Amino acid sequence: MNIPSYKPYFSQKEKEYILDVLERGQISGDGYYTEQVSAFIEHAFHVRKVLMTTSGTHALEMAVSLADLEPEDEVIMPSFTFASTANAVILRGAKPVFVEVNPDNLNIEPDDIERKITEKTKIIIPVHYAGVACDLNRIIAIARDHNLMVIEDAAQGVNAKYRGQYLGTIADFGCYSFHGTKNYTCGEGGALLINLESTLLREKAEIIRQKGTNRCQFLRGDVNQYNWIDTGSSYSPSDLLMAVLLAQLEDMEEIKDKRKAVYGIYRNFFEQYEKRGILKMMRIPDACDPNYHIFWVVFNTEEMRDHVLTALNSRGVAASFHYLPLHSSPMGRKMGYKPQDLAITEKAAMCLLRMPLYAGMTELEIGHTLNIVEAVIGAL
Ligand SMILES: Cc1ncc(COP(=O)(O)O)c(C=O)c1O
Repeated sequence: MNIPSYKPYFSQKEKEYILDVLERGQISGDGYYTEQVSAFIEHAFHVRKVLMTTSGTHALEMAVSLADLEPEDEVIMPSFTFASTANAVILRGAKPVFVEVNPDNLNIEPDDIERKITEKTKIIIPVHYAGVACDLNRIIAIARDHNLMVIEDAAQGVNAKYRGQYLGTIADFGCYSFHGTKNYTCGEGGALLINLESTLLREKAEIIRQKGTNRCQFLRGDVNQYNWIDTGSSYSPSDLLMAVLLAQLEDMEEIKDKRKAVYGIYRNFFEQYEKRGILKMMRIPDACDPNYHIFWVVFNTEEMRDHVLTALNSRGVAASFHYLPLHSSPMGRKMGYKPQDLAITEKAAMCLLRMPLYAGMTELEIGHTLNIVEAVIGAL
C-alpha cells in the first residue's frame, strides 16, 4: 500500500470553477476569481487588505520589500524554517539572524530573540510551524520595545488561530502559502496580508506586485493608463489557480475537521510511547487553535527516528523528516554558522518524524501506517 505524505482534498467545485474561468476567457491575474478569493479571505479571517500572490515565497519577498531594508540590516527568524523565509531577506541585501526554537512546539523562542537583537535588527519573522501559533503576544511586545516590524510567516497557518485571532492577521504583515503540500491549495499560490492601516503602503504593495506599475489603479479605473512607477516583479497568480483556491477555501472547515480526526488518532496512538519515554509529541499551547497541518514526534535519538522512518518508507509510507535547519545548511555554514550554535534546533530536526496527514486519509491507510510504527517501536 502506498501512502503519500500529503494529498489535496477536492470536491467537485474545483472543476466547476475552472470551467467557469475558461468560459469567462480571462485566465491572467486579477480577474473575477482573484477578486472572489481575496474578498473571501478578507471576510473569513478579518483581514484589512489581502493581495494574492504566486507563492508563499513571493508573499514573503513582498513583505520584506515593503520594509525598506538597508544592506547589513538584520532580520531575526528561526533556523527551523524553509529557505524562503531567509531568501526573502538575502534578496534585499540584508542578513538573516537565526534563533532557537522551543522544543515543545518548534516555534521561535522569544528569550533567544531578545538575546539576538542588535542596533541593526529591523524585522522579526516568527514562523507558525505546523499551523500552531508562535508566542505572538511576547514577540510583538519585544518588537514594540525595539521598534521592529513583525512579519508572520503563516505559510502553514491558514485557518488557525492565536487567542481568537487568525494567524497572519495579528502582526504587521502575514504571509500564506497555498502550495500543493498545504491544507488549502491551488498547487502554487500565496497571499500577502497587510494589517497596517496605511494607504501608501497598500499602493506600494500593489505596485511591487504588478511589475513596478500602477496597473491595479488602472484596473480599478482610478487612472486611464498605467505606467512604470517603481521597482517590482510579477507576483499576481493566474485566475485559473484562484478558481481552484476559492473552491478549497469554501470547504476549509470540512477539510480542517477531516485533518483533525487523523491528528486525534495519531495523538492517541503515540501517547503510550511518550509515557514510556521513547519520544515526545508536539504540544499545542492553550492560546492556540491549530489547523492540523502537521503531526510530528521527536524521538530520543536520531537512530530511533531513522529506524522508524526507514521501516515506514520501505513499506510505502511517505513519513518524513522535516526542515533541515538553515543555520547548518551549506548556505548557513557559508554565513559562518556552526551546527552547535543552535543545539535545540539541530537535535529536534535530527530526531523528528512527520507522519502522513491529509483530509480523507482512510482508516485502512492509518491502520497500515500505525501497524508499521508499532512493530518497530514495540521492539525497541
Ligand atoms: C514556513 C514556510 N515559509 C514559506 C514557505 C514557502 O511557501 P511556497 O511553497 O508557497 O512558496 C514554506 C513552504 O512550504 C514554508 O513552510
